[in-house]
Amino acid sequence: MLLRPLRPDDLAAHASGCDDLVDRWVNGGRASTTEEHLAWLERMAHAWRAGADVVDLAVEDATTGEHVGVVGIQRGLSYLRPGEVNLTYTMYAGRRGRGYATAATRAAMQLAADQAPVTRFLIRCDPANHASAAVARRLGFRHVGIVAEPDGWSGDRYVHECGSG
Ligand SMILES: CC(C)(COP(=O)(O)OP(=O)(O)OC[C@H]1O[C@@H](n2cnc3c(N)ncnc32)[C@H](O)[C@@H]1OP(=O)(O)O)[C@@H](O)C(=O)NCCC(=O)NCCS
Repeated sequence: MLLRPLRPDDLAAHASGCDDLVDRWVNGGRASTTEEHLAWLERMAHAWRAGADVVDLAVEDATTGEHVGVVGIQRGLSYLRPGEVNLTYTMYAGRRGRGYATAATRAAMQLAADQAPVTRFLIRCDPANHASAAVARRLGFRHVGIVAEPDGWSGDRYVHECGSG
């Protein structure tokens, strides 16, 4: 498993990988158009080049080179304090249940810490999204509980304090 910047020619893998489950948990219940997928990939490619606070990266199977999902590293959002990093993850249809999300998120934590100091990592998920919560637990995150965030989102928050193991 490796992480690399996203690029516009990821469109086919990304668009076909974003199934109903992704739409439900990541996209507010609606399917993106091909143009929206492409625009997002272009934004993320630019975000990586610009060293932006919010960026998603491609997750690749290191053995096969297949693009299996995306993982996000987010700083500077309204509900984050300096040093806090929110993590997001999506594995494409047909790529789940193989440990990619846990491995990719672990790699994203390492990358984020290499880029700039991190005091703690956060993962937010809907209480009904058990597969997402399982990733946080596998990574040793602590369940804080249901938190109403300043950005209007409400749901389960998981945290991993850096330096606390
Ligand atoms: C959330 C999501 C990324 C989790 O993906 P996942 O594939 O279940 O998570 P992992 O990659 O950690 O894989 C864990 C599964 O792989 C299995 N597995 C196989 N090989 C493994 C390995 N080497 N290491 C760890 N787990 C492995 C585990 O047993 C586990 O299976 P189980 O669910 O049957 O118990 C996925 O459900 C998804 O993309 N959902 C839609 C988007 C979404 O909800 N994103 C999160 C929003 S908060």
